Amino acid sequence: MKHTLLLPALACMLFGGLLSAAPLAPEGEAQSKEALLVTAAVFEFFEAKCNDCHGAQLAKPKGKFGYTMDLKRVAGNEEYVVPGEPDKSELYRLVNEDEMPGKDSEHGVANAAEKLALRQWIQLGAPSALPASLAAWQTELLNAHAPEPEKPKVGRTFFQHVSVWLGSFHAASTHFPIALLMVAVLSEALGWWTRKETWLTCTRFLLLLGAASAVNTAALGWLNAYSGVSSVYKFHQWLGTGTALWAVLTAGCAVLFECREGSPERARLRGALFLGAALVGLTGFLGGAIVYGLDYHNW
Ligand code: HEC
Repeated sequence: MKHTLLLPALACMLFGGLLSAAPLAPEGEAQSKEALLVTAAVFEFFEAKCNDCHGAQLAKPKGKFGYTMDLKRVAGNEEYVVPGEPDKSELYRLVNEDEMPGKDSEHGVANAAEKLALRQWIQLGAPSALPASLAAWQTELLNAHAPEPEKPKVGRTFFQHVSVWLGSFHAASTHFPIALLMVAVLSEALGWWTRKETWLTCTRFLLLLGAASAVNTAALGWLNAYSGVSSVYKFHQWLGTGTALWAVLTAGCAVLFECREGSPERARLRGALFLGAALVGLTGFLGGAIVYGLDYHNW
């Protein structure tokens, strides 16, 4: 039993070895001789009459169709080819009705043999396997890419350019939230010291401006095109973002609640303001440390 199977198997292997030495491209499709011939004919037709306008070598192929020699891709485009159905295939219609190649093409329209080959190719399911010599030539044609069109400098879009430019104001803008929140603490301290309600107006004013400028500074920070990644930088980034949020919350408390001297709301506001000023100071320190190192305040 084993021997009866072994012999035909051996024969197949030998025969297969001989066959694979024949010029067949290693494609996994049914490769009847007819399909191979028809595919080769279509390939040669495309090369002669389409490739000048639709080849991979073109930076701007006509009709944005630049892969005419890539039969597999052409066959896979269902807008062009319905495998097995030439009459439903736009590609066949274009060629059959002499729309492609256009009458002004220097190679002229497709002749009857070329039209027939294309029709048969689609009828056979639009196979892509080619005889080995053509397959090698196909690879060469498909790799003949046009040189990349020159990119505008650094590849930035206009909006990226604008946002990077805006981001460059981050460092300058940090002065506002730092100073405003610190002075708000001073105003609050004076209010506590003098027990005069009028200081609250001043605190509110400074706090509102401080919170707005903190949000602005944090936003510019995110736009800033800083390219380093250190843990100090990461910490600064998130602490700054958190500080801006904290300042907004604190300003909200100052506006929404009456905050009379001696009330729990006022005590809460004072605490929040104090913490906010500490946060903004720490964030500023870390921002400096990104550039100068953590020891830049050493005595
Ligand atoms: C002289 C240049 C030229 C040649 C040669 C040429 N074409 Fe075209 N082809 C064009 C132009 C130009 C368009 C765009 C026409 C349009 O969009 O109205 C186009 C469009 C196409 C499109 C439609 C693309 C799309 O998706 O809209 C297909 C398919 C096509 N050609 C196939 C072929 C085939 C197949 C051949 C060869 C048999 C061929 N062309 C030869 C110039 C050419």
